[in-house]
Amino acid sequence: MVQLPYASGFFWTALTSRHELLVTNTACWALVAAIIPIFAIYFTIWKPSRLSRVKSSGIRTLASSSTMESSPIIKRSPPKPGVITVSKILIHPIKSCKGLSVESVNYTHEGLENDRLWCVIDATKRTVITARESPKMVLILPTVKSDGTLRVSFPNDSGCEPFSVPLNPDEEVMRTWESIPDLKLWSTPIDGYISEAISGPKGTASAILSKYFEKPVHLLFKGPEPRIVEPTAAFPDLAATSKYQDMYPMLILSEESTIEVEKQLRGYVGTQGIEERWKSDSIVIERFRPNIVVKGGGPFAEDEWEEISIGDPGSAPRITLVSKCTRCLLPNVDPATGEKDKAVPFKVLMKFRTGLDPKHKMKACVGCNAVPSGNGTLRVGDIVHVRKMI
Ligand SMILES: *[C@@H]1O[C@H](CO)[C@@H](O)[C@H](O)[C@H]1NC(C)=O
Ligand SMILES: *[C@@H]1O[C@H](CO)[C@@H](O)[C@H](O)[C@H]1NC(C)=O
Ligand SMILES: *[C@@H]1O[C@H](CO)[C@@H](O)[C@H](O)[C@H]1NC(C)=O
Repeated sequence: MVQLPYASGFFWTALTSRHELLVTNTACWALVAAIIPIFAIYFTIWKPSRLSRVKSSGIRTLASSSTMESSPIIKRSPPKPGVITVSKILIHPIKSCKGLSVESVNYTHEGLENDRLWCVIDATKRTVITARESPKMVLILPTVKSDGTLRVSFPNDSGCEPFSVPLNPDEEVMRTWESIPDLKLWSTPIDGYISEAISGPKGTASAILSKYFEKPVHLLFKGPEPRIVEPTAAFPDLAATSKYQDMYPMLILSEESTIEVEKQLRGYVGTQGIEERWKSDSIVIERFRPNIVVKGGGPFAEDEWEEISIGDPGSAPRITLVSKCTRCLLPNVDPATGEKDKAVPFKVLMKFRTGLDPKHKMKACVGCNAVPSGNGTLRVGDIVHVRKMI
């Protein structure tokens, strides 16, 4: 018989008689014989089924998605109702500024009420400013007030006074505001009006914000023109509109995902500029600026969902998960301090979250972009019904 386990054989020779070595060698052959079928099963059945689930995000449209299931994909069945619930709802009234955690919110096909209804633009260049270039803007706190205003306040040490703007300016008010045409957010054209403070002379809001940004800026309010979003690989005929979100109306992310990111992160501390403090510091989910945080499905459970509804399964609108959300350096900004980490979590995400979006294979993805089919209401604790897996 071939001396298969060379190293162990060597070890055993030192300890045992030739007879015992022969027995050990036979036992090792038996072990190898048992392992081979396990590998064979893994590579032929389990692995391809996982891959095909990722690939199956193939070509579909929102309207026809229910009628185009043909490939014999081994699908995981959707989680049972009650397993997955909404654990947090976040709105970000001003793009890239601090988010607000709310107990319930109404939404339309364009997203959550008051989410990214405003943005800040560079008054000279007429471009949208985000926390990618101005990390300290995450410290600006917008709050939705019951008197129908949005109050905007600043960190104490900035010396910037708070101001308020109307939440729902009527046409008459908006006529007095300057309209900004030809504006683009990433690749898509958007409209906007320079939002004026409720009190103080014209230009008060712009003046206070300009002091904070140390350059001339304006607070822009989303105009009535629908912003057409780009189709996705899975939904090439996607017809949806949004406001000042990066692109799509909603972002859905499971709570367990950040725990997984942290787990991976711990293994890279000390390498690639990942500082020692990351041995214990946590990654708060607010870094990823999700709208709907869910729990119960495990890390990145949403990756495998195509359609969900939240709340009453009879009446709640369908919410279609149109693509994975590709990530830039924005999650590197700490929402509590406005400081941008050189490496975390971007470099960690690049280790295990790439190759998920067919249009951007080199980009890391966290969370899913989603489009609701109509108006609805969300509450923390609501049950998430997974209607269709990818
Ligand atoms: C949602 O809209 C309904 C009807 O317009 C309203 O009564 C309710 O207060 C709204 N809920 C929230 C959370 O805004
Ligand atoms: C900022 O000032 C307000 C009012 O003076 C105070 O209540 C608040 O605690 C201060 N915040 C910080 C972070 O110092
Ligand atoms: C959905 O909600 C928006 C904003 O509250 C409202 O203007 C619109 O009429 C509603 N659409 C439907 C179909 O109810």
